[in-house]
Amino acid sequence: MIGKILGTGSYVPGKVLDNNDLAKFIDTNDEWIRERTGIVKRHLIEDDTTVTMAAEAAKRALENAKVSAEEIDLILLSTVSSNVILPSTACEVQKIIGAVNAVCFDLNAACSGFLFALNTAQAYIHAGMINTALIIGAESLSNIMDWQDRGTAILFGDGAGAAVLAAEEGHIFPTVMHSDGAKGDALLCQSRFRREQSTSLELKSGETDIPGTAGFPVDTYVQMNGQEVFKFAVRQVPLAIEELLSACDKTTEDIDLFVLHQANKRIVEGVAKRLHMDMERFPMNLMEYGNTSSASIPILLDELNRQGRLQKGMKLVLAGFGAGLSWGAAYMEW
Ligand code: ACO
Repeated sequence: MIGKILGTGSYVPGKVLDNNDLAKFIDTNDEWIRERTGIVKRHLIEDDTTVTMAAEAAKRALENAKVSAEEIDLILLSTVSSNVILPSTACEVQKIIGAVNAVCFDLNAACSGFLFALNTAQAYIHAGMINTALIIGAESLSNIMDWQDRGTAILFGDGAGAAVLAAEEGHIFPTVMHSDGAKGDALLCQSRFRREQSTSLELKSGETDIPGTAGFPVDTYVQMNGQEVFKFAVRQVPLAIEELLSACDKTTEDIDLFVLHQANKRIVEGVAKRLHMDMERFPMNLMEYGNTSSASIPILLDELNRQGRLQKGMKLVLAGFGAGLSWGAAYMEW
């Protein structure tokens, strides 16, 4: 058995922050951001949360797939920036959409998260454990940005995307997934907890531990070595795609679209160049949304789907990469 995508959905919050808005409080400018990243604007949450965005994307995917919430056996949700730790974000989504028959859990593989969730759901389907899965990538990255750090704050945005996967007769395709924890320092976000702060971290002058807040995280921000991440992505993603295509007995010429994690225009261009492919087969929407981590691939997939750019039988390669370090690729026929 193989999981086929029956429908997609996405949701981004209405508040838009463009590069000129950013330049009002960070030492940066529109020209620099466009040239180095391709990003023009990003959408940020106000009243939304990771849970509400995920639930909305999920509802739209179910509607698009013409599948009811009760038919879902598994909700697998990828996030690094949920508003809830317990219960899981996936369980919160289950409650909102009424997917009463689903088993639900979250997965954290950063910007590779949607791809890893897709591959995990495929494995469950292939093993005969489930028939129908709802996979979601949802992020409120604005909550974990240091809005004074121009190296990171310019890059990220909020949003959610989802896909409904259902079992059908057919051979499962090989997938490629890699992790390299030894290089994890290139991109991290570490929680400093109050309890830890009062014992092992120096308190800032005048700062005292707040009664009743022991164990609550403070100062949880994304930190990144941009050049290291850039080099890693441009080097490893083409290798992963080549490894995948070889395992699937395909060549780059067979592929209609390469749906890559939307981190940076120069990364997507670098990958295309190393694969000797022109950019027409590498759709991008990062100009509008910035980098939405695990939400970027399903948001792009949903846009392509709703624009009618995904025709039955088209051959797609999806590729994710990010913190961990982690990276991978999957092949599918639409
Ligand atoms: N605005 C204006 N100037 C800036 C900014 C900014 N936001 N940031 C840096 N600069 C300046 C620097 O100070 C430096 O100035 P100098 O030459 O006078 O010293 C100059 O611009 C170049 O700085 P670099 O850090 O070398 O800039 P670089 O070309 O590497 O671009 C960037 C930085 C955009 C972060 C790039 O490294 C990159 O895209 N990395 C990949 C990051 C990424 O995509 N991460 C996410 C992928 S994984 C995931 O999705 C989680």
